[in-house]
Amino acid sequence: MIAADLAYQHANSGMTLRTWSEQEYQDLLDDPKTIIVQTNAGYAIGTIVCDVAELLLIITRPALRRNGHGKNLLSQFENTAKARGGDFVILEVSEKNLAAQALYLSTGYTEIGRRSGYYKTQNGDSEDALVLRKAL
Ligand SMILES: CC(C)(COP(=O)(O)OP(=O)(O)OC[C@H]1O[C@@H](n2cnc3c(N)ncnc32)[C@H](O)[C@@H]1OP(=O)(O)O)[C@@H](O)C(=O)NCCC(=O)NCCS
Repeated sequence: MIAADLAYQHANSGMTLRTWSEQEYQDLLDDPKTIIVQTNAGYAIGTIVCDVAELLLIITRPALRRNGHGKNLLSQFENTAKARGGDFVILEVSEKNLAAQALYLSTGYTEIGRRSGYYKTQNGDSEDALVLRKAL
């Protein structure tokens, strides 16, 4: 798993939120709580603590989107979380990120809360985060 490739994909994902540096990815990869699944189409990364897994980010390469790769990575992430003792996945998604919301809502996630002004975009705006959860 190469931190530089993950940082490159993140920087080129088209996201408006701050992207993570190679060092931030390396720190996550070095952390035993981290779960990462990766395919040629992208990756999903998160953490697991006790029975709760948190999906931090899922990204597919822009040229390969709407081909089921996001669903596949999410499913692999959930299976790995379950194998490591997870009973739930929680995640945060921007209120503006309709593509990701559609992915999560179509795969069994439900909204359990909202964090006002949680995200700061690269141009200084704020966006609420929706908090979603799924039982595994
Ligand atoms: C969100 C993301 C991972 C989806 O990846 P993907 O490979 O396109 O996902 P899939 O092809 O498996 O799509 C699964 C379902 O999600 C929904 N979906 C995905 N992209 C969508 C879009 N642009 N508009 C509406 N619904 C969308 C659809 O319901 C889709 O099923 P369908 O194609 O049968 O209609 C991808 O758009 C991405 O990398 N975005 C940038 C990074 C990001 O925002 N990550 C989420 C951070 S929380």
